[in-house]
Amino acid sequence: MKITVIYHSHSGKTRTIVEKIHRQLDADLIEVVPNQQYSTLSAVTKGCYRALTGTADIITPDQISLDETDLVVLACPVWAGKPSPVMNGALKALSGGGGTRAFLLVTCNDAKSGDQAIALLKSRASDAGLVPVGEGILDKQAVISDQAIVPLIERIRSAGAV
Ligand SMILES: Cc1cc2nc3c(=O)[nH]c(=O)nc-3n(C[C@H](O)[C@H](O)[C@H](O)COP(=O)(O)O)c2cc1C
Repeated sequence: MKITVIYHSHSGKTRTIVEKIHRQLDADLIEVVPNQQYSTLSAVTKGCYRALTGTADIITPDQISLDETDLVVLACPVWAGKPSPVMNGALKALSGGGGTRAFLLVTCNDAKSGDQAIALLKSRASDAGLVPVGEGILDKQAVISDQAIVPLIERIRSAGAV
């Protein structure tokens, strides 16, 4: 079973989580970064505007093949209650993912915001031809707690094993 984790992380929290997933599940890790990097200020202004409008950032890598992948994990921070525009860019860059199972993961300060963002990420993943099979929301506390991360990794393992 091949698991590919595609992630965006602006300030490092999502990266910390996906690195654990990578180590525990021997998953491939693909970091997507915006070609125009965000500063702290431009993330709040331009980044939130782009998240609110559902805009897809131009990203590197600009093509991501899922040809050999059994389960893809899409992980990103919540910006303005939505998936980050960098993750929208990642969804646009996917190829060969038709019918691939997807586990959706967001990190956020507040789980309510995470609920809203995960619903959108799920529908965008479906629009991209993926099949959502699981989801996780890590809020400010959960993101630093092994109590939340250990069961999350088990849920991803099960989603991949189906
Ligand atoms: C521009 C910006 C907007 C954010 N908007 C929200 C939000 O609407 N709701 C929320 O719960 N957290 C919000 N956050 C907090 C991040 O989602 C949270 O800290 C996340 O874990 C950061 O992940 P990262 O370190 O991988 O970038 C925002 C952070 C930034 C930088």
